[in-house]
Amino acid sequence: MRRNDFPILQDGAVAYLDNAATSQKPAAVLEAMEQFYRTTNANVHRGLYHWSETATAHYEQARDTVQQFINAQHREEIIFTSGTTAAINTIAYALGKLVLQPGDVILLSQVEHHSNLVPWQLVAEQYRAKLEFFDPTQPLNQLPPKTKLVSLAHIANSSGLILPIQSVIALAHQAGVPVVVDAAQSVPHMPIDVQQLDCDFLAFSAHKLCGPTGVGVLYGKRVWLEKMSPVFGGGDMIRTVTLQHSTYADLPHKFEAGTPNIAGVIGLGAAVQYLTSIGMTKIQEATSAVHSYLVAQLKTLDFITLYGPEERSSIVSFNVRGVHAHDVAAVLDQHGVAVRAGHHCAMPVMEQWGVPATVRASVYFYNDESDIDKLIVGLKHAYGSLSRPNS
Ligand SMILES: Cc1ncc(COP(=O)(O)O)c(C=O)c1O
Repeated sequence: MRRNDFPILQDGAVAYLDNAATSQKPAAVLEAMEQFYRTTNANVHRGLYHWSETATAHYEQARDTVQQFINAQHREEIIFTSGTTAAINTIAYALGKLVLQPGDVILLSQVEHHSNLVPWQLVAEQYRAKLEFFDPTQPLNQLPPKTKLVSLAHIANSSGLILPIQSVIALAHQAGVPVVVDAAQSVPHMPIDVQQLDCDFLAFSAHKLCGPTGVGVLYGKRVWLEKMSPVFGGGDMIRTVTLQHSTYADLPHKFEAGTPNIAGVIGLGAAVQYLTSIGMTKIQEATSAVHSYLVAQLKTLDFITLYGPEERSSIVSFNVRGVHAHDVAAVLDQHGVAVRAGHHCAMPVMEQWGVPATVRASVYFYNDESDIDKLIVGLKHAYGSLSRPNS
């Protein structure tokens, strides 16, 4: 579906199955970014001349586009960051400062990407709070005592597990506890409505949804963002500054210090418009069809071990019997198949599975069955040529 929109995929040389790491970019996104640099390149929010006003208008239009995309109630609830990682770190420091006392608990799931684990470890250390973890495959019936924050992925990047965010949010809200959703792997793949989810914060990256690298979104409910202090200080986020003291700009600028990634934000806006023009439900269906084919084909190979749940979204992690994941990926590369091999920034999950690494194939709507067929041929070759008996 729509493969011709993607210049890098047009010659069909590579079966790109590393979409959970980053997605490919359609011409519409490349052109929007190039257009900005070629025709209106100027800084935003400060120049009183045409280029700067145009750049500001396009930058702020991207905010409206993203607001509609995730159905945020207010445009100032959309903060542009450099990605999911920066968004979660910002939330962790600002929200941690607001709600954490020594002995309090930050509750995370057991399957988080390092981006939704390490920032909380840092903040827990700072406030002498504790981290606790729940198993997202089991119902969560109550929060541990003294829980002040919950943060969890919507979809685990290691396995494609879909976490029960809706019930966790409902449970946390009964206790007045805010919930952060790491939506890096879900926003690219399904319609997301933050008002319907009722999450307090949501983070995602442009580059996983056909947009550029180095830009992402921190969504936060206005009531929380207004109470939170900025984490980064600098230009654009202030109202007044004296040598001793500053007051801060209104939302969203309070959390957007310094010159932002203007071209990146414009690219993100173009990516969201591109996805919206296809329709997120159609994208979800197309991805799901090719993912089902992927899993079914892997199951025909008796030398493959699959990890994670039976119900997965867009991702599958596996190993080839007797061959290290890195060697599998190297053989696949020779067959023109791009996959990820390693711990997928989720070392605790690898520990739960008892393996140092897996191969991960992850699909998007522009993949088709021919990509999967190429993968299967490559896997048979990897097993046939590299597998060591009894290993
Ligand atoms: C679930 C999840 N969270 C967070 C991230 C971090 O995203 P970024 O590196 O774009 O900040 C990723 C990226 O792989 C991810 O899959």
